[in-house]
Amino acid sequence: MDRQRVVDLGEWADAFREDPHPVYARLREQGPVHRVRLPGADEGDETWLVVGYEEARAALADPRLAKDGEKIGETFLDEEMIGKHLLATDPPQHTRLRGLVTRAFTMRRVEQLRPRIQQITDDLLDAMMPPGHGDLIDSLAFPLPITVIGELLGVPDMDRAEFRKMSTEVVAPTNGDTEYDAVVRLAEYLTGLIEDKRSAGPTDDLLSDLIRTTAEDGDRLSPQELRGMAYLLLIAGHETTVNLIGNGVLALLTHPGQLAALRADMSLLDGAVEEMLRYEGPVQSATFRYAAEPLEIAGTVIDQGEHVVVGLTAAQRDDDRYPDPHRFDIRRDTRGHLAFGHGIHYCLGASLARLEGRIAVGTLLERAPGLALDGSPGPWLPGMLMRGVRSLPVRW
Ligand code: HEM
Repeated sequence: MDRQRVVDLGEWADAFREDPHPVYARLREQGPVHRVRLPGADEGDETWLVVGYEEARAALADPRLAKDGEKIGETFLDEEMIGKHLLATDPPQHTRLRGLVTRAFTMRRVEQLRPRIQQITDDLLDAMMPPGHGDLIDSLAFPLPITVIGELLGVPDMDRAEFRKMSTEVVAPTNGDTEYDAVVRLAEYLTGLIEDKRSAGPTDDLLSDLIRTTAEDGDRLSPQELRGMAYLLLIAGHETTVNLIGNGVLALLTHPGQLAALRADMSLLDGAVEEMLRYEGPVQSATFRYAAEPLEIAGTVIDQGEHVVVGLTAAQRDDDRYPDPHRFDIRRDTRGHLAFGHGIHYCLGASLARLEGRIAVGTLLERAPGLALDGSPGPWLPGMLMRGVRSLPVRW
């Protein structure tokens, strides 16, 4: 790819935010990797964007594409204010941090949460059912994952509305100032939370476990790492799953044939959730990587220190990998989809997210036989990290 040619993704403005697929399709036709200016970026602030499936998969697992920006004198706002976390570290630090939390997210541990996730879903649907219409994001997609991750970490009665504002602003910033404020407030919030946990004495939850790890073996998890971990788990644990439920239900409601097929045979549910993840996954692009050394992607030379963004939404609609990729087909073979990433940063919460998605969608369809759209969903979230709508009006 000609490195002089820069594609300004901001040029399409709201059209790209609403529906980036036609732009990604055009880019894929021209090649798997492009020099782009991300929406909102200044002139001269360019990055590489990978849009081809094979190249995206390879890039996600390429150790030369590193995450710890400190090595090139760069730190992101959240790392600076809150602390280092899994998505901002490389081995061996990444290996050590991941080792401390992996246990809590194995398929077996997650399966034990099933009855509680079902209960929370039932309660939310009970509260939602009487009036016959409402916003599915507010009534189910948002509160379910935040309640689950809150309980898992041991944050039972956190201020959810306030937390929602802060965390959505961090993953889909409206502008630089509001993002900064949100990160500062999140840092304060998490510091307070950890202090409260420490002074309340040990309880049986993940955050208490992690605090104990710090106390007993101080050099394993520094206070900053502890705060970074809590931050990442809380944010990654709910901002994404909200959009699995939201985008997934939206896809079903706009594809009545697929919805009818699923209602007729609920054994298709697991496959349907995988197709929701492929067709309109919650994460539009993986988090920033940079070239720790010069490398080539499909013949394009990436210089040391340059940023690379792996476009997951783009890669999952690559027709070299998925035939007729723009068709939402709950029976398709979705194996190898990249919605949870790939390689050492593969989503820690994938099993939990799948379980929540299956329970939420399955129970919703059972409880609301006449579920339908009730107006236009939207607006779509700004930025290139997430893909999801702020509201999804439905009736039943
Ligand atoms: C449908 C829901 C979810 C999706 C689509 C999703 C997607 C992803 C993706 C794409 C990555 C890799 C990012 C990269 O390589 O730059 C990732 C990493 C991660 N996710 Fe998820 N995620 C979801 C739910 C969750 C949940 C429920 C949790 C936690 C409880 C979670 C925790 C994490 C963590 C901690 C990482 C970083 C792992 C590492 O760096 O080793 N995610 N997720």
